[in-house]
Amino acid sequence: MRTARRIAELAPYLFAELDRKVAAARTRGVDIISFGVGDPDLPTPPHVVEALVQAARDPATHRYPSYTGMPAFREAIAGFYERRFGVSLDPDGAIQPLVGSKEGIFHLPLAFVDPGDVALVPDPSYPVYPTATRLAGGEVVAMPLRADNGFFPDLDALAPEVLERAKVLWLNYPNNPTAATVTLDHLRAAVELCARHDILLCHDAAYTEITFDGYVAPSVLQVPGALEHAVEFHSLSKTYNMTGWRIGWVAGAPEAIEAIKRLKTNVDSGIFDAVQVAGIAALQGPQDHLEETVAHYRRRRDLLCDGLKSLGVVVEPPRGSIYVWAPVPGGHTSESYATFLLERCGIVVAPGTGYGAAGEGFVRFSLTLDDARLEEGVERMRGVAD
Ligand SMILES: Cc1ncc(COP(=O)(O)O)c(C=O)c1O
Repeated sequence: MRTARRIAELAPYLFAELDRKVAAARTRGVDIISFGVGDPDLPTPPHVVEALVQAARDPATHRYPSYTGMPAFREAIAGFYERRFGVSLDPDGAIQPLVGSKEGIFHLPLAFVDPGDVALVPDPSYPVYPTATRLAGGEVVAMPLRADNGFFPDLDALAPEVLERAKVLWLNYPNNPTAATVTLDHLRAAVELCARHDILLCHDAAYTEITFDGYVAPSVLQVPGALEHAVEFHSLSKTYNMTGWRIGWVAGAPEAIEAIKRLKTNVDSGIFDAVQVAGIAALQGPQDHLEETVAHYRRRRDLLCDGLKSLGVVVEPPRGSIYVWAPVPGGHTSESYATFLLERCGIVVAPGTGYGAAGEGFVRFSLTLDDARLEEGVERMRGVAD
């Protein structure tokens, strides 16, 4: 069989590869402690599950959903933006529901990037930005995120000829994988740059609701003028522990939303209506679970950061996301350390280079496991520390 060149050139998805290694280790009988994929272990709030169950019993939800999503779901999203960020969005023109934000992130370059166009992509980053760019025929220009720039790209360092060719610029804060956070001024600088160069700013806001120590994450749409130059991807996955449900959205510049809509009507047929009804329950129902969810992650963050510190690895506790980005011990690369932890400790972490070349020297710990397993993980690492 002859597959397309683009398949031959497509690297396996980082976590599909990790899953394979973990499955092989489990087959050998290893008791795996996984700090790997960022998939919340906490359950979806019960009232959201109940809303799905009831809606699924209604045959009206069994037909093709609308391409543009249920009006009531788009209104619930607009309500979230108003309440949380003080941003007014037109539910018809400025919001498009997605089959999980990954779907929209993957499709965006098909709507904005022609062969030869540049996409400015942070390095390290969520792997879908560069992969989707390349599959659309675009060229990825990496914007390194380093500890010494606070894991925010040096926008002033972007060459004029690159900015000239750039169609989109990706940002993601709170950041995966570095767990870095930003102020609204950072996002303002990015909007201004994109406005000057007619670039679409794509902000991935999957983790804005998981923040600690009084830090409140901004939305790019709070920046004046952003509605002309930016879109923001959002998701119910992490805020409401709904990764399995596949529901998210993109909001922002109406011209961009229109292009995404046109593309999507040709690709998928929307989100199961019962899942959208559950999404409405999530956004409009009681929010007390969120405080508990954040408290779990904060405690785990502290357990892990304190544990790593006791092993001589100093990590500033992050103010957001569900990750800890930790430097690897001397003598190791990201890959060799991830392999060492798997083989010697039965511990899964994500190697920093899985997120881009600039991730070298780091591994990512996800906080999606309970305290006892997390502490056992630290003890296993202590057992093999020099
Ligand atoms: C930065 C970032 N964006 C988007 C996603 C995808 O989320 P969703 O479940 O909405 O597709 C993830 C998932 O881990 C992520 O880390």
